[in-house]
Amino acid sequence: MSDAFDTQPLRDDLPFGARITGLDPALLGDGGIRRALRDLWIDKGVLVFEGLEGEEVHLELSRVFGTLVQHPTREARAAHPELMTVRYKPDSGWLIDVDGDLRGTWLPWHSDLIYVDRINRGGILRPIVLPSRMGQTGFIDKIGAYRTLPDRLKARIDGLNVIYKYDLDAAQQRFGRTANASMVRISPDVASIQARLDDFPRVIHPMVYEQHETGRKVLNVSPWFAVGIQGMENAEGDALLAEVADHIVNSSEIYLHEWRLGDMVLWDNWRVLHSATGCPPDEERWMLRTTIEGDYGLGRTEADAAIDRTDYITV
Ligand SMILES: [Fe+2]
Repeated sequence: MSDAFDTQPLRDDLPFGARITGLDPALLGDGGIRRALRDLWIDKGVLVFEGLEGEEVHLELSRVFGTLVQHPTREARAAHPELMTVRYKPDSGWLIDVDGDLRGTWLPWHSDLIYVDRINRGGILRPIVLPSRMGQTGFIDKIGAYRTLPDRLKARIDGLNVIYKYDLDAAQQRFGRTANASMVRISPDVASIQARLDDFPRVIHPMVYEQHETGRKVLNVSPWFAVGIQGMENAEGDALLAEVADHIVNSSEIYLHEWRLGDMVLWDNWRVLHSATGCPPDEERWMLRTTIEGDYGLGRTEADAAIDRTDYITV
């Protein structure tokens, strides 16, 4: 713990996550403070920083937690290669029908990059333009999800692996669905992906692994992109994966972050799931995200197929 910032729970009843206030960005070079922030991140999984502004602080804060991925620049505004743009525009953005409601850039529960072999360590999101309502980011703690999993399921999933397949159409999601979703409008780059889904190899990740720093078990299932259990692609395996995914999305504590300008939210992508509630179709939502590099070393492509990481759109 450090006395250079204040730490509070995100909610009194929430066993993961922390809200950090009073952090002076000028102190981000201090080794003790950097260590304290990293320890807190590993302990809590999600850190909400309040009252921090600007691109330089966004980048400096992100570098406390690791090396940043260089993104190809998609838009002039996100000129910095370490910043990725996450933006819904009313005239052209990704539009999804969610239980009969139109939402801009709604995303189901997932881990970033679970559809490739190397999963990034985490990221920090920062809002630039916020809609007047909705637009929240949700988080579920997979350590908590394992802890609350019934013992009979813990025994059944021991040693099993989950197969993932890249497909951005949430209507195709097989496990842990929370809504009936269908794509109404997609961007040309998403359309290009969807037209050649066979180009993307299936990958395999363990269903449970231990957090390296603490030994705590993580229920390592991303409901979006999961297509089955390795060696059990049958009714029994599908029923088991459905039960585990339903436990994660229906029986876990959910933290839904209500964004305000000046927030920066860091998550541990190896340990928490996230989702996006989407925004009203006629309003803009514009976020910038850093991506912290890493590889937990447990993912692999099926049949050791080659993978071209530059070919994916990250969600
Ligand atoms: Fe994501």
